[in-house]
Amino acid sequence: MGSLIPAWTEADRSQFMNQPLAFRHGLLDTGLFTDEALARLLETHPDHLTDVNINDIHDDGTCRIRTGTRGGLSGDRLLERVREGRLWMNLRYADIRDCDGYNLVDRFFGELAGHNPGLRPFGVYPNLLISAPQARVPYHADTPGVVLIHLVGRKRIWIYPNSGKFLRDEAMERVALRETTEDLPYDPAWDAEAACFDLEPGQAVVWPYNAPHRVDNQGTFNVSLSCEFMTWEARLRHGAYYTNGTLRRRFGLSPKPLAETGPVGQAARWALSTVFKKLKVNRAAEARFETEFNVAQGTPV
Ligand SMILES: [Fe+2]
Repeated sequence: MGSLIPAWTEADRSQFMNQPLAFRHGLLDTGLFTDEALARLLETHPDHLTDVNINDIHDDGTCRIRTGTRGGLSGDRLLERVREGRLWMNLRYADIRDCDGYNLVDRFFGELAGHNPGLRPFGVYPNLLISAPQARVPYHADTPGVVLIHLVGRKRIWIYPNSGKFLRDEAMERVALRETTEDLPYDPAWDAEAACFDLEPGQAVVWPYNAPHRVDNQGTFNVSLSCEFMTWEARLRHGAYYTNGTLRRRFGLSPKPLAETGPVGQAARWALSTVFKKLKVNRAAEARFETEFNVAQGTPV
């Protein structure tokens, strides 16, 4: 079995998690992402770990996510539904194994850590994203680190700096407090300052923690493996946003911006966030999402 990250240069190493970085991967050589394999995976993956969604992105960049159910459809029929609409499916904790029975994502991250000795994720969470030709993902930021491994179709991703106007503290605090989805305020004029990649099968892309990004599929059926990975750096940033958001909203304070808070300050804020969570200070504010459609009853528009 060949390498999953065949060519990693010194330049890649210095850019990793500091700048948006695209690189080649070898996952397609496994032959595990054919229509037949995807259909089988859809049929065996647990319902409660399978998301079926539609993103309604408005002209002002805001997005409403409609959540559905797969309604007992076969894997083949589900793939048909995805090909004809704007659906996107997410198989959370997808367990994809190579011909020797090894978990493919574990192998990938083993190689990634080999290339980047400072990388020590204590949790890797693979999401297999199967999405429609017209599917789009709005401007948002993720809490963990993310490597997007692209497998089928073409998609365009814009990645923005993780500071200043692109990532306002108050907006990210709302995400940390789960008052909203991960959407952030967005201005199309910012695209000029974004790193933009046209992803083809066999390419992967990774970006700095919390860097906002958005994605447009380019008229083709798409499959990608979005691997979230949790590290101490990501955890401290999340805890600091959570604490700052709590101080701002529940206690009327104006905390110091995260960009001016060093690792020790972030660690202190993370520690405080664990206290706030134990005390359930923010529980009532968390957003809830209800199911709105059933794919077995037709493709929603
Ligand atoms: Fe994301």
